[in-house]
Amino acid sequence: MNISRRAFVLSSLSMPIWLSAGRASAQVDCTLPSAGTPTQLVPKEDTLLARPTAFSLSTAAFARSLSQFSAAIDVVRKRSDDDVTGWGKQVAQHCINCTFNNPNNIHYNWYFLGWHRALLYLLERNLRQIGPDSIRLPYWDWESSTSRTLPSIYADPNSSLYYANRQTSGPSWPLSDEDVDVQPFFAIGSFDDFGGTATRADPTPVTFSGPHANVHNAFAPGDMSDLMYSPRDPIFYAHHANIDRLWASWAAAGNPKPEFGDASVNFFDENKQWRYIKLDDLRDETKLGYRYDSLMKLKAPVSGFARFHFDPAGAHLFNLAALAQLPVKKPGPRPDFLLVRNIDLSRFSKEDVRFGLFTRAPQQGVLSAGDKTYLGRVSRVQSKEHEHSGPISAALDVTGRVRGALGANRRSLSLFIAPLDATGRTSAAGEPLIAKSLSLVR
Ligand code: C2O
Repeated sequence: MNISRRAFVLSSLSMPIWLSAGRASAQVDCTLPSAGTPTQLVPKEDTLLARPTAFSLSTAAFARSLSQFSAAIDVVRKRSDDDVTGWGKQVAQHCINCTFNNPNNIHYNWYFLGWHRALLYLLERNLRQIGPDSIRLPYWDWESSTSRTLPSIYADPNSSLYYANRQTSGPSWPLSDEDVDVQPFFAIGSFDDFGGTATRADPTPVTFSGPHANVHNAFAPGDMSDLMYSPRDPIFYAHHANIDRLWASWAAAGNPKPEFGDASVNFFDENKQWRYIKLDDLRDETKLGYRYDSLMKLKAPVSGFARFHFDPAGAHLFNLAALAQLPVKKPGPRPDFLLVRNIDLSRFSKEDVRFGLFTRAPQQGVLSAGDKTYLGRVSRVQSKEHEHSGPISAALDVTGRVRGALGANRRSLSLFIAPLDATGRTSAAGEPLIAKSLSLVR
């Protein structure tokens, strides 16, 4: 990874990427200076402090923390474009890793969680060096029903946290329960599904395509809705801190600790040194000097899930693996979750970012919410100058809705997919779902 990443950095020198017309800013810098062989950074912080919610920073008790944080962000944003500790290069560090077809892609494999954790950690170190050392990044707890609009500290036009090119009203606002449902993630028992594997899209991490993508897309057509430009908006870091918190929460719930071997990520640190950090050294956030005092949790009282594996059987059919038998569901509050690995999106237009899964093929123009055959939504994030047609995986709460997909023998599931517009209406008729495999968890 180190070698190919270096090669890409070098080959991308002086390769500015121009934005499409009509955007607020004309150009995104997608280059980093050449910096020699990276040295290892082993995170070992001695002060452990809680990252605050973005909401708490708007309260009187945190007035001082807010002014320290926004003053430090202001320093970084005002640094020159070629300073590797400045905002422009912060964006470039993401951009060079973001294209789907380059080997350094960090959205469709196990780099997704660790790479973004490192990006936030390095920004935090940068801010802590500007001062004071107690600065910790805020997180936007959008899963909470009271945090479904842009946190107010980001909305003040006089603050360094403000960014003009963002949409915070319209059909996506406020965020809905469905947009930010983290419950299905707690039914996933393997890191391969939760956070991906070394190989791109085998499978794509489900953490990419749920709330992560829905929150990015809510800002369309602002910069947050495009992977390549999104780190320009300060809200990006509060959003990703909550994705980071989802990982911390999943790990704290007793899920398996991934083994990343020698895999590592590269960054410029706060002293402008080119560093590498092993993904294994990013698994425990407390080594990075922060924790989350509140964690996300599974709400339903569940004692051990049963998992049923389904493989593609042609057209829209998925068959239960040999010998497995789907039990008749007992009454009670126990949820059903559906995990769908590597949904093929290559048939759809690049502009489609939301897709509904259905138990029957819907007509065009059907409102997904309230439709009896609708199972849930899976989303991707655009990156206009980069190819992002890759398959995506989904984890959905299908409680009470999966029956319509089950064949008479209860050994097959029948599923369809249709692109959705921003209001949740199908923008084309449904087609058979093509995916690598399914797990029904109940
Ligand atoms: Cu690198 Cu939310 O994206």
